[in-house]
Amino acid sequence: MPYRLNPRPPQSDVDLHLRLLNQNREWSARMLRERPELFSELAKHQSPFALWIGCSDSRVPPNELTGTMPGDLFVHRNVANMVVHTDMNMLSVLEFAVGALGIHHVIVCGHYGCGGVKAALGDPGYGLVDNWVRRIRDVYRLHRDELDSIDEIEARLARLVELNVAEQVYDLSRTSVLRTAWEAGRHVQVHGWVYGLRDGLLKDLGVTRTRYEAEVGPPPATRSGPVSG
Ligand code: CO
Repeated sequence: MPYRLNPRPPQSDVDLHLRLLNQNREWSARMLRERPELFSELAKHQSPFALWIGCSDSRVPPNELTGTMPGDLFVHRNVANMVVHTDMNMLSVLEFAVGALGIHHVIVCGHYGCGGVKAALGDPGYGLVDNWVRRIRDVYRLHRDELDSIDEIEARLARLVELNVAEQVYDLSRTSVLRTAWEAGRHVQVHGWVYGLRDGLLKDLGVTRTRYEAEVGPPPATRSGPVSG
């Protein structure tokens, strides 16, 4: 059975690693039967058609849920699919994907029921992840009126998941990597999607960005004057 240990072992299974290695041999043999050329092609080079920035959650595996194969997606995952401008890991992945691999589609994919987003909604106390999801609290503040008007907590969490993806798409569109690509005339699209754990379906939030837009600056009158306060 592909991508699934069957029967599913308990987490405490001391032989889990052996099962995984066995299953890998089965997978490799099956792939060689079904796509004899795949490994030899992929060993030469990669030319993925999209960069996926998603949550580390085990239930949101990008290849499986998009019906794609090894070599199709360049992937970066972290808790709550965050785009943090000081994250050298994410920035290096982005620069390589857009600059070297020539990717035209970047997808930020969140998911409903995200534990990282839930952690940001509650009181701090989860450990280091509190620091990582700190930005989601800012997303909440930005959209407080809308979010506070939603009484049902699950629905509020779901909306925060969507808004968080939209904000990460926005932040991604502010990176120097994308600005440089767009200013060079490259057609790169940044999409925001949310995955449903209950139905396995992706939802396009309709927040796609295709060009660099100047951010709101200070009013003209103060632009050249001294900074007060
Ligand atoms: Co998550």
